[in-house]
Amino acid sequence: MTDKLRNRSAKRSPFSSYRAYVSRLQVLMNGTDQEAEWDERVVAALNGQASVELRRVAALTKRRKFGAYFTGTKLGELLLAKCASFDEHRTFYDPTCGMGDLLLAAAKTFPLERTLPETLIKWGSRLAGTDLHAEFIDGTKTRLVLLARQCHQTTNGLVGSPDKFFPHIRVADGLSEKTAFQRATSLLMNPPFGVVAAPNGCKWAGGRVSAAATFMTTALERVRPGTEVLAILPEVLRSGSFSEHWRDRISELAEVHIVEPYGVFDESADVDVFLIRLIRRTDGNATRKKRWPVPRKRRITTVANHFDVHVGRVVPHRDPETGPEYDYIHPRCVPTWTIMREFSETRRHEGCVYQPPFVVVRRTSRPGHPYRATATIIAGKQPVAVENHLIVCEPKKRTLKSCQELMRELKTEVVNEFLNARIRCRHLTVSAVEAIPFQPKTGPARRKP
Ligand SMILES: C[S@@+](CC[C@H](N)C(=O)[O-])C[C@H]1O[C@@H](n2cnc3c(N)ncnc32)[C@H](O)[C@@H]1O
Repeated sequence: MTDKLRNRSAKRSPFSSYRAYVSRLQVLMNGTDQEAEWDERVVAALNGQASVELRRVAALTKRRKFGAYFTGTKLGELLLAKCASFDEHRTFYDPTCGMGDLLLAAAKTFPLERTLPETLIKWGSRLAGTDLHAEFIDGTKTRLVLLARQCHQTTNGLVGSPDKFFPHIRVADGLSEKTAFQRATSLLMNPPFGVVAAPNGCKWAGGRVSAAATFMTTALERVRPGTEVLAILPEVLRSGSFSEHWRDRISELAEVHIVEPYGVFDESADVDVFLIRLIRRTDGNATRKKRWPVPRKRRITTVANHFDVHVGRVVPHRDPETGPEYDYIHPRCVPTWTIMREFSETRRHEGCVYQPPFVVVRRTSRPGHPYRATATIIAGKQPVAVENHLIVCEPKKRTLKSCQELMRELKTEVVNEFLNARIRCRHLTVSAVEAIPFQPKTGPARRKP
């Protein structure tokens, strides 16, 4: 990119304040490694600093709007470890490459040539990337040179610009690309996660959809059969029931080889993600093997077979305090893993109340917490009004014993693992609680008359 063009785009760019950091990287790239702390500065530049600097100069609202969250070294390497092969004919394209973290993870697996320029020419022929923002594209190329210099342990800096080595890394809208998708043998993706309007004619969703979902289907529609796709995607696409049509579309387009929950993306983006590895199918492939894995059906019964599950009915700031007065429970007044018989609060309520015994489960439930479903048994003789941050499980057999069995089960690692695999967002749903495998020793529930 010429200086004139670069200045013009920098003026328009929402990330122009990031340019100063990219310029510092360019100075590092051109400098000699005799300079003080050159090695340490390169290690920092290649490991997480690009993200830290972006957070320092760009407001959260802006980063969110453009989905600018860069993949950390550990996560990038974990994704690349799922790649089938790095043989020299394989070419990698990241359609939304940001500061090139996934391309760096790929380049780390490439061999070195005899000289630094020869290595850069070879890497440039195997790596492609697009991003909307010129600062990120310049940063990607600079960091790739820094990596190559680090690997070669050359003392001298690169003279001039890295542009000539990386003709396929450029400013462009990934969604408008065609050639780059056709050229690649592997796609590396961590697309933006925001919500956008569904594309025209979209068959798997209407209205507003995840940008990541759109990027994935667009990419798969454009690549050649056999192309390997490795991606980091938001957890909701793996476990959300509303994403089922999207998962079906992915299974139509590709063989699904790996679907692996990961956890929180990083400390700056508090969103759960999963990793996926796909191989683009040949169009019209009739067999349709290797579809998105459906959770294996277990023979044992679930909570829904033995309990009626509801969300508590009191919405404190909405419901008027009129009607009969009841004992009243909400998460702050309910001690966990015990039987509650005494109630410190009451309130008037006109809607539905519950007759003990029953189990309440807190709706707030963080993945990775010691207990995903924290429970309390509510006992006593009088009906109780329950706030809507608690899930109520009423035993079909109406016995305290059933409640005790359920509470014991909810405390187990089996339930934690089940809920971690089933639902990664922070709130339990009625359907997730109903689906918890549960086989009471006290025998099957009596049928309702
Ligand atoms: C979540 S970041 C990931 C960057 C990189 N793939 C990584 O893993 O570190 C998403 C990137 O997509 C870029 N982006 C958003 N919409 C885009 C589009 N339509 N075309 C190309 N890049 C886009 C953003 O600027 C941002 O750098």
